[in-house]
Amino acid sequence: MTDLTTLEADLSAQVAAAPDVAALEALRVAALGKSGSISGLLKTLGSMSPDERREAGPAINGLRDRVAAALGERKAALEAAELDARLAAETLDLTLPAPPRRKGSVHPTMQVQDEMISIFAEMGFAVAEGPDIETDFNNFTALNFPEKHPAREMHDTFFFNPGPDGERKLLRTHTSPVQVRAMQRTNEKPAAPWIATTIEPPIRIVVPGRTYRCDSDATHSPMFHQMEGLVIDKGIHMGHLKWTLETFIARFFEVEGVVSRFRPHHFPFTEPSAEMDIGCDRSGGEIRIGTGSDWLEILGCGMVHPNVLRLCGIDPDVYQGFAFGLGIDRLGMLKYGMPDLRDMFEGDTRWLRHYGFSAFAAPNPATGLS
Ligand code: DAH
Repeated sequence: MTDLTTLEADLSAQVAAAPDVAALEALRVAALGKSGSISGLLKTLGSMSPDERREAGPAINGLRDRVAAALGERKAALEAAELDARLAAETLDLTLPAPPRRKGSVHPTMQVQDEMISIFAEMGFAVAEGPDIETDFNNFTALNFPEKHPAREMHDTFFFNPGPDGERKLLRTHTSPVQVRAMQRTNEKPAAPWIATTIEPPIRIVVPGRTYRCDSDATHSPMFHQMEGLVIDKGIHMGHLKWTLETFIARFFEVEGVVSRFRPHHFPFTEPSAEMDIGCDRSGGEIRIGTGSDWLEILGCGMVHPNVLRLCGIDPDVYQGFAFGLGIDRLGMLKYGMPDLRDMFEGDTRWLRHYGFSAFAAPNPATGLS
């Protein structure tokens, strides 16, 4: 019995002194675990005579219950103390500034596209769009590309496999097919006599969108963005074309004015066709628009070919028009000094953080574009 008293006194002292829950658990295992000291005593009951057992049984069981209760109490006390300590240590300092939130940014191509649209919108142009997957007819034939003409191959076209009807769709190589779509709509019959017909000339549209060519280097990417322009009206001539483009370029680059020259060129869908160069200054390793005596090729343009007007159901003896094609990414690279076109579509968030625009900086010619 004195053994039990000593054991109980020892265990009680150790339980009271256990510094933390882990130490207490070690004590519990040492006393009540499978090969613990009290479990060992309980095992001895089996080999005792009934008389001995009658005396020792309640004593050992009582010891086990008291030790278990003491362990439980101490555990609750330790857990409460640990929680208090954590609550004291983990206070929030509400005076600290909040960590900055990462903001998204507007991709330069979309910003530049909006800048361009806002300038053309102010000149009375509407925005038209068309699908990225086009018919061979809209992308080439209706634009006066002769059948089997090498110009079709020049565009490094991504063709789809021909469909059951033998028709071969493609990823549009330029935004010019939307010219075709816009002109064809002028011939659409109204769905019912009381519904007004769709757009009649004059047509004044710009067409922003994605275009695709099998090409990749610092200034070419298999996917890039163009903005097509189309004006169809009576009495349209190259003077309108020149004013529109010079005015656009000056506003886009935010300079007083630009000088331009129109170099004869060939596009199947325009006659005459031209490439427009603008005056710039290349000294000092960067291109400055609006000053200097160097030239920079900036866009392709021309008077809409009578064949195209005819193929789209517009009478070339009544209506004339001009068209132009601008590279949106290219204009952005020039304006904002981005050296490699491919970087624009890598999706690298570091690049986007550097060159991206705030979503609140919506371009507006009245308050400034950029
Ligand atoms: N579609 C031409 C291209 O991608 C660009 C172009 C040139 C469009 C002259 C036009 C134009 O509308 O008149 O190379």
